[in-house]
Amino acid sequence: VRTQVAIIGAGPAGLMLSHLLAASGIESIVVDQRSREEIEHTIRAGILEQGTVDLLVDSGASTRVLTDGHRHDGIDLRFGDEMHRIDFASSIGRSVWLYPQHEVLKDLIAARLDAGQDLRFGVTVDGIDDADPVHPVVQATDAGGELLRITADVVVGADGSRSVARSFVSGSSRSGYFREYPFAWFGILCEAPPSNDVLIYSNSPDGFALISQRNEHVQRMYFQCDPGFDPESLSEEQIWDELQKRVPGVELATGPIFQRDVLRFRSFVAHELLRGRVVLLGDAAHTVPPTGAKGMNLAIADVVLLTRALEALLCRGDERALDAYPAAASERIWKAQHFSWWMTSMLHSAPDASEFDRRRQLGELRTVTSSEAGQRYLSEAYTGWPFATAV
Ligand code: DHB
Repeated sequence: VRTQVAIIGAGPAGLMLSHLLAASGIESIVVDQRSREEIEHTIRAGILEQGTVDLLVDSGASTRVLTDGHRHDGIDLRFGDEMHRIDFASSIGRSVWLYPQHEVLKDLIAARLDAGQDLRFGVTVDGIDDADPVHPVVQATDAGGELLRITADVVVGADGSRSVARSFVSGSSRSGYFREYPFAWFGILCEAPPSNDVLIYSNSPDGFALISQRNEHVQRMYFQCDPGFDPESLSEEQIWDELQKRVPGVELATGPIFQRDVLRFRSFVAHELLRGRVVLLGDAAHTVPPTGAKGMNLAIADVVLLTRALEALLCRGDERALDAYPAAASERIWKAQHFSWWMTSMLHSAPDASEFDRRRQLGELRTVTSSEAGQRYLSEAYTGWPFATAV
């Protein structure tokens, strides 16, 4: 088959890209190895930056985020015996929305299918062929085991942290700048009311905890654990003890736990984001540790830039725009890398941390929370820098 843009991956990046391209009259095919069921039910992060919400609404993808999501005007940072509100709304007049990623995916899949988008699940990509450099080909096997060849003007790798496209673009799947962390997060979903009006990020002597939310009846919480932690190794009572210990002074509302998972901590940016007319975005291009919830939001920011570049190339024949994409995207990628690393390093206990390191961390938290400029800095990054306007 022939299309203008072949998109590998029906995650937030791939689906949003096909949605925005369609609005500019650019045709695409989206393929994903997973089933629609799996995509719509995998639990991921829950925080959307203001710009992500505006884009969902203004592009006609979803208004459900406004009715079913929850606006959050700040977060609490807890450390020592203190609780400090970072008030985004009064500091910079911006907010974030709590709206789980799989709900974004349901909205985008519904919007694309309603618009008649060619969206294929259960498709395994076997390789990319750029023998004709201006018509790269995605070679794949479809859900029925038939070979599928998609010839395009541009191929987009939006296929997540285990990207197949990355090896093609960057040389190997591991070819990138990266950092590992000596801890991970154990996450739960539970049936309970919220314990606080906003999310709590806690640096405690027993390690980090994040008290997040989903809605009035379901909450999401995490605590720092070893990377090899077995999610089934604790009883529900032990999990609640561990969480409560890390947020002294807050009374956690508890309830049945119905989901447990362990989240890996890595920072990664691929060495190359573009090879000829094959381009990477979202988790295929970069990974951030979860602290600060930048993953999906950064993917959406990539999409905004790439959409403009593809409009320039495919509607106006301007080749330079696509070549400019890696440098343009890298600016925000590295800002988000820094923010995610900074929030992580300020809030977690490293196994080899000295008493000096622990006290320095508290000094850093006090610097941020006691300064208007510090609060503003955190607010700007957390709610998301404005999307770039030019490529
Ligand atoms: C959630 C995840 C995050 O990484 C974060 O910083 C805030 C919230 C969440 O899943 O709710």
